[in-house]
Amino acid sequence: SVLVKEIYRNTEKYIDENVVVSGWVRTIRSSKSFGFIELNDGSFFKNIQIVFEDNLDNFKEISKLPISTAIKVEGLLVATPNNKQPFEIKAKSITIEAESDKDYPLQKKRHTFEYLRTIAHLRPRSNTFSAVFRVRSLVAYAIHKFFQERGFVYVHTPIITGSDCEGAGEMFRVTTLDFDNLPLDENGKVDFKKDFFGKETNLTVSGQLNVEAYALAFRNVYTFGPTFRAENSNTARHAAEFWMIEPEIAFADLKDDMELAEEMLKYIINFVLENAPEEMEFFNKFIDKGLLERLNNIVNSDFERITYTEAIDILKKSNKNFQYPVEWGNDLQTEHERYITEEVFNKPVFVTDYPKDIKAFYMRLNDDEKTVAAMDLLVPGVGEIIGGSQREERHDILVNRMKEMGLKQEDYWWYLELRRYGGVKHAGYGLGFERAIMYLTGMTNIRDVIPYPRTPRTAEF
Ligand code: 4AD
Ligand code: MG
Repeated sequence: SVLVKEIYRNTEKYIDENVVVSGWVRTIRSSKSFGFIELNDGSFFKNIQIVFEDNLDNFKEISKLPISTAIKVEGLLVATPNNKQPFEIKAKSITIEAESDKDYPLQKKRHTFEYLRTIAHLRPRSNTFSAVFRVRSLVAYAIHKFFQERGFVYVHTPIITGSDCEGAGEMFRVTTLDFDNLPLDENGKVDFKKDFFGKETNLTVSGQLNVEAYALAFRNVYTFGPTFRAENSNTARHAAEFWMIEPEIAFADLKDDMELAEEMLKYIINFVLENAPEEMEFFNKFIDKGLLERLNNIVNSDFERITYTEAIDILKKSNKNFQYPVEWGNDLQTEHERYITEEVFNKPVFVTDYPKDIKAFYMRLNDDEKTVAAMDLLVPGVGEIIGGSQREERHDILVNRMKEMGLKQEDYWWYLELRRYGGVKHAGYGLGFERAIMYLTGMTNIRDVIPYPRTPRTAEF
């Protein structure tokens, strides 16, 4: 038997030959003497058309097959240059491998994405989600390829950790406590600090601190794994569990960091355009009409670079009625980010040098002592997809920043030690993997680019 993808990619080889394919019935229509099946074999985004006639001894049975039945087809592959599909299989025999129940929820009509989320176990069988999750897989591959080709070492940072990288307290606690037999402290209160075999731990919000240590050993490194945020935000861009790519480069500053981010993003875009043309066509046609034009423009132009202070000026001069006030010192909200990247520049924009008070403790303090060497990359349609910075390599300044932010030095002892043993300047960033997929596909809800979304109200599957 042969995979449908192989037939599409090497059609010449199979035309006028007998082929055997197996897959699931996507659609079926039939008349008294013949019928058509759109078959999807899972190997490829596209279906293959099967024509069957009443010369099959099980013609009646086949005509009535419910959608999603698995079948095996043997027949002649014929070219159909005048049809919508370039070829079809004229069936000589069709065997039923696994018949579907008739109440299969994905009937031919279009379903809303909201509905499809309630059947997350079946939605990869729909066109949109077939395309999304194939692209997601390819992008993961492209990311590894990009970094590995440049000699970056892939570091597996821990999921369970004792430190809070972002210092924002948005962590899920990990516990081994026996809730029927909770440990009590001397005041008779439950001692939750004992929760991970006697230590307080949580699910990681970022692998950065751990990966910094490896950058100071291997120079160029990256981590790519799941991260968790216990933020109770119900937006289309936040999930409680998401994947993040975090490169970290030593002997490098913020400028090098931005150059790496820009090169990486362009590489990924080129990779999916080249390796998933059918899926990208589909998104361009049915999900986001300007997608291909936009992505092609992006790979051929430079990203914009502005400072936070310039961004505030632009926003103030915009005469827009923003919901959140624009004031130097306030964080940029999604509405601000989208205005800048969509209405002012209409391309990806790096915003740099944010006020230190709205950024994490590890970012390098600028000479003005008011801002830090941070960068966020904002893109049209999504907003922030990357957050990064040059790291504070100066031990004493770092200690001061931690004090200012109320972080305990003993919790970060090993991180501080890195500054004492050859702690050269270094920088890195985090790319939100789901946000990158949204950007590449035009999908507008993060729940629709991760197979099983974890958000405050969805954790069923
Ligand atoms: O800006 P963030 O919080 O940066 C960090 O975690 C740094 N430690 C990264 C680094 O420098 N190594 O997160 C980075 C990116 C964001 O730009 C966003 O794309 C994504 O992670 N992100 C989320 N994606 C989905 N759901 C959430 N709740 C997210 N929070 C952050
Ligand atoms: Mg951020």
